[in-house]
Parts: sequence; C-alpha cells; structure tokens
Amino acid sequence: MTEIYVAPQNLSTLCLKDDGSDYVSENSERFIISEGIPIFLDKESLSNAEKWSIDEYENTKLYYDNAIDWLFASFKEDEATVRNRMIDGLECTPNSKILEVGCGTGRDTEYLAKRLSADGQIYFQDIAFGMVKIARDRIKKLDLKCKHECFVSSATKLPFKDGEFDGLYSFGGLNEFPDLKKTIKELCRVVKPGGYLILGDENIAPWLTGTEYANIIVKNNPIFERSKVPLEYLPQTARNVSVTWEIGNCFYVIKFKEGNPPSLNLDLPHKGWRGGTLRSRYFGQLDGVSPDTKEMVIRAAKQSGTSLHQWLDETLSSAAKNEVYKNIKE
Ligand SMILES: C[S@@+](CC[C@H](N)C(=O)[O-])C[C@H]1O[C@@H](n2cnc3c(N)ncnc32)[C@H](O)[C@@H]1O
Repeated sequence: MTEIYVAPQNLSTLCLKDDGSDYVSENSERFIISEGIPIFLDKESLSNAEKWSIDEYENTKLYYDNAIDWLFASFKEDEATVRNRMIDGLECTPNSKILEVGCGTGRDTEYLAKRLSADGQIYFQDIAFGMVKIARDRIKKLDLKCKHECFVSSATKLPFKDGEFDGLYSFGGLNEFPDLKKTIKELCRVVKPGGYLILGDENIAPWLTGTEYANIIVKNNPIFERSKVPLEYLPQTARNVSVTWEIGNCFYVIKFKEGNPPSLNLDLPHKGWRGGTLRSRYFGQLDGVSPDTKEMVIRAAKQSGTSLHQWLDETLSSAAKNEVYKNIKE
C-alpha cells in the first residue's frame, strides 16, 4: 500500500529505503518514518498557522477526547449518529478508497473505516504526530477488515497523485488550515472526478445569529464566531453542492462532488425582442450611444420586425464594412 505516496512538493516518485526507515525522493529529499508513521512535512517551510497547530495539538492531545465528549454532551447530541450522518454524505461503497484529513484522535476515522470491506482502503492524516498516533492506536484496536494507513503531513500538501481517492472527509480542522482556498484546491486535487468531499467545521447557522443560544456558545469559544462557511473557496468543478448544519446547528457541513466546471451554450439565440445570444451580450458590447440614438435604434428595430440584436448587428456590420472597404480602396 505504501507505494502510492509521492513527494508532496513536486509529486515525484518515492523510494522506501531497504531498512524501512524513510522514503527518499528523486531529488534526495528524505521523509522519515517514525514509529511506523511516515512524516511528509518540510519543517523549514511550515507557516506560522501550521506551527501553531502542531504545538497546540501536541500539547493538548491527552485532553482532546475529554473536550469532544463534553462538546457532544453539551449539545445533547449522540456523537455516533451525527458523525455517521456526515459520513453518509461521502456516498462511499465498501470498496472505496477514502482519505481523511485532520483526523485528530480518529473519532471519525473509526466510523469511516467500519464502512469498508477487505477491498476498501482508508488513509488518515493529521499535522500533529501525537494525534495521528492516538488515531492509529484507536484503529488498531478495532478488528477491521479494510486496509488502513496513517501519515503526518499538512492538508495543504498531500503526498498523493491527482485523483487517487474515491472520497475525502475532513471535519474540524478547516479553520486552522492555512490559505483555505489553496488547501481546498489541494483536497480536490486528490479526489477522482465524481468523488464526494465532506468538509465541516465550527459555524453557527445564520438564522441563530444574535440569539441568546448563539451568544452563550460564542462566549464559551469565540471560534464559533470567527469560522466562516468557505463556500467561495470551492473550485469551479464543484457540483451537487449542499450545506447543512450539525451539532446543535453550530457546525457547517459542505458536501460536493468533484466534477466538470459548468459550461454554457453561448450561441443559443434569445427569443425575446432584444434577441442576441450570451456571446453577443457578453463579448459583443460596444461603447454605447446617446439616449436619442438609442431610442431611434429601438424604434427602427421594432419597425423592421427583427430583434434589437439582429438590427444592430446587420446595420453596424454593413456600415462598418462600407467604412473599412472605402478605406482599403483609398
Ligand atoms: C479540532 S481537531 C478535529 C479532529 C477530528 N477530525 C475530530 O472531529 O475530532 C482539528 C485537527 O486538525 C489538525 N490540523 C490542523 N491544521 C492542520 C493542517 N494544516 N493539516 C492537517 N491537519 C491539521 C489538528 O492537528 C487537529 O488534530
């Protein structure tokens, strides 16, 4: 399974050293494997946000699960029900190959992995080595049929070729990922066309803004006010997009499919009095005329029984040709 990894910087092939201690890239970059976990991080080029996440989660990894137990209990939500509902959005099959980004202590990883058969595969990653280790130990204890593998990297640079996965799941880390637009592009890159992505994080549903309920939550943790739903960062290829709110309506969950960008028939004629097409209205704009000329043009077009577009196009084209032809003759 490990041969699917490539160097995150330039996607070049990696070779596993004979003693299994590290991967080496074509440009002799080394990625060490520590306690069986490959680490695809270039420590020199980490952003401040990435350094902050590593420190934060290495320091709090032992209390993290208590905090999540408290979170679900305070919202009076059943964690298994909520996480499984979010995972349903992936529309994965037992044979799917899934990537989880920002797995934390593996609380979603467990539910994701349980859906997969011996032919299914799950890769789970986090930027904090200590979190991945806890997730790995959690998954190891389960009697799972699927192949499972974990690694350390930043969400912004994943060690995979394009289109490697059938689906991608990331819950709870997005507001910490640096340059979210770039990171979402990277997440989409590794998903096959037609595969689903589920992305979720803190955000109080807009209809709760200003309520006492929302104020209590924000007072307890201001991240709920800061974290925005990053719809504007989805790529043009995002299709079947939906947003729901989970866990007391305080976490957004975006579901979308990696597809083709939307396209238009630019030359389909309008049937109304203005006439023309999307192409003529967008690419054929000229500088404008005086209000009097405009009124006359509209009257002339109506009188001639053609659309405004057709009248303008024919009249201007004929006048322009005469002018151009006259100049050439001269
Ligand atoms: C709030 S936890 C969510 C963990 C888990 N998904 C859950 O729902 O319990 C956020 C996780 O994102 C990870 N993270 C933060 N920045 C990251 C980055 N740039 N790349 C990958 N993981 C990152 C953190 O280390 C942390 O484990």
